[in-house]
Amino acid sequence: MQTSFQPQELFMRRAFELAALGRGHVSPNPMVGCVIVYEGKIIGEGFHHQYGEAHAEVNAIHSVLAPNATVSMIRKETGLSPEDLLRQSTLYVSLEPCSHYGKTPPCAKKIIEMGIPRVVVSCGDPNPEVNGQGIKMLREVGVEVVEHFLEEEGQETFRRFFTHMAKHRPYVILKWAQSADGYLSRSQGKPCLITGKSLQVLNHSYRVEEDAIMVGTETILADNPRLNARMFRGKQPLRVSMDLHGKILKYIHTYLTENGLPSTPSPELAGKLPLRFFDKTQQTLLFVDMNRRDEYRFIEEWPGNGSEKLKIVPVKLSTAWPEMAAAYLKGLQKERIGSLIVEGGAALLQSFIVGDHWDEIRVFTSNKDLGGGYAAPRIPASQPCGFEQFGSEWVHIYRNKQHIP
Ligand SMILES: NC(=O)c1ccc[n+]([C@@H]2O[C@H](COP(=O)([O-])OP(=O)(O)OC[C@H]3O[C@@H](n4cnc5c(N)ncnc54)[C@H](OP(=O)(O)O)[C@@H]3O)[C@@H](O)[C@H]2O)c1
Repeated sequence: MQTSFQPQELFMRRAFELAALGRGHVSPNPMVGCVIVYEGKIIGEGFHHQYGEAHAEVNAIHSVLAPNATVSMIRKETGLSPEDLLRQSTLYVSLEPCSHYGKTPPCAKKIIEMGIPRVVVSCGDPNPEVNGQGIKMLREVGVEVVEHFLEEEGQETFRRFFTHMAKHRPYVILKWAQSADGYLSRSQGKPCLITGKSLQVLNHSYRVEEDAIMVGTETILADNPRLNARMFRGKQPLRVSMDLHGKILKYIHTYLTENGLPSTPSPELAGKLPLRFFDKTQQTLLFVDMNRRDEYRFIEEWPGNGSEKLKIVPVKLSTAWPEMAAAYLKGLQKERIGSLIVEGGAALLQSFIVGDHWDEIRVFTSNKDLGGGYAAPRIPASQPCGFEQFGSEWVHIYRNKQHIP
């Protein structure tokens, strides 16, 4: 479309920066940022803070109306009210304004109501309820709209959301730590830390950015992991695992019998389940064989801090693990999980790789050899996307070539 004004990259980049502030809080919604510009000055900023709450455009408009210090200064100089300024401003937003009544009223309607004459959009919203309707709504009343502005950079910030929309599953990050000679751990049942403190902190910072974190049955039994983000401030992810053949169940029953504990829960037994995964300190989800679902009721009823925090989800068994991986993703999609980190072990990671159910791989590599044990998965055909050194350890990142928008 012909436009009478030249949008400036700086303002859209600021919108991207603002969008990132919503990371970890808005999924499965997209992280969106917005700035409002009057005569080359940013007079309002906003981003989507929390799932279900006001969108970026509305927050940016409210920051002008509040008004903020810049608006007050311009008002002093020009005598223009915040409403007057909006009627002469350009709104930069990283995603097409919505056109439908969802949890909040349509942003396109708000922009029109405020009389904002120009809108610059980076990416269209693939949500079938929007999908071009927001831009159409604006143009129909004469708002000048520039689309596809810094679109590639925009797509990068929306990669979780776009994957969720296009593939009807969460964005999947496979992450593992390997020794210099390529092993994940020594032998079965012997937990060992592969990387040092810096990479553990980095890993916890990754965990707060995603909705859920998953490990395989053997990892639950071998490592008894907490699967939280205790070394980094932020939202704790949903922790996810599976017990398709009752191995975890058997372990718990054996533990209770050996320790003379009854299998009927009572308040005195709070905290006496042997695995941290069931400590009910964090939202937790366990996939089980649908034919054995009832056998897990006693774990749900086991006393803990928050019994509502444990969810047992039955799935149909398949002998093919990649198919099971797809079933977990379907189950997590139903739970509105927009992104997932799969943290091992080797078997679970391999099933996501073989089924091509992944978008990104992050490999932590230490400088020490293990000399044997569980071999780390091989990196499939992918696009190397960067690496960083932390002391004598490394992080390499790869993207799935097929899935890059
Ligand atoms: N270095 C690291 O980053 C890292 C991370 C995590 C774990 N580890 C280590 O890895 C070891 C465990 O790895 P692992 O390969 O033996 O086990 P795992 O991947 O943790 O668990 C595999 C088990 O999970 C169940 N499972 C259910 N669905 C599956 C699916 N779609 N794909 C694969 N497995 C599925 C199967 O149990 P059923 O047969 O009962 O169905 C399978 O035997 C431990 O020693 C742990 O310390 C290392």
